[in-house]
Amino acid sequence: EAESLDLKNRRVKLVLLGDSGVGKSCIVLRFVKGQFDPNNKVTVGASFLSQTLKLGESTIKFEIWDTAGQERYASLAPLYYRGASAAIVAYDITAPESFQKAQYWVKELQKHGSPNIVIALVGNKADLADKRALQREEAETYAESNGMFYIETSAKTADNIQELFQSIASKLP
Ligand code: GTP
Ligand code: MG
Repeated sequence: EAESLDLKNRRVKLVLLGDSGVGKSCIVLRFVKGQFDPNNKVTVGASFLSQTLKLGESTIKFEIWDTAGQERYASLAPLYYRGASAAIVAYDITAPESFQKAQYWVKELQKHGSPNIVIALVGNKADLADKRALQREEAETYAESNGMFYIETSAKTADNIQELFQSIASKLP
């Protein structure tokens, strides 16, 4: 009885990693509060929010650590990804250097993250299609060869934000 309850109500530690300015905090704000702030402030250290999501019969409570992407905070990241069951590694589809940074975080998670961690590679700012600097195929190929899934989102328009978290929930071991 207790065991089936545990299966129905899971807590999942999720970490967001990625370059400063790619939109990590905006993705979380959109998912948790349904809002978008075009003047969102850079994150200092990290911030914590939680949000529950229904997946069939079960309820998943995401405990979300939104890390600071600025270089000076990079050494703090292990505090937040340690023990995480899921990670969102985000980049900005208009900023090629942010894709390089995403690859750095993927390697870091592969080396030091939980063995069965579910990783979502997220190309954010999909609404800025006219400024796109990275093709979807490149990211998709990279994600596939590293056992991750790839999704493009817009925190601004809310495109694929719910789907991102639903997909993570459905892929949890
Ligand atoms: P750090 O906290 O420094 O790591 O940055 P961050 O990744 O949390 O970036 P943040 O969420 O603060 O977003 C930076 C800025 O990008 C925001 O203030 C928005 O103006 C813009 N932004 C975020 N998401 C989107 C999006 O999907 N589309 C567009 N057009 N702009 C976005
Ligand atoms: Mg932030």
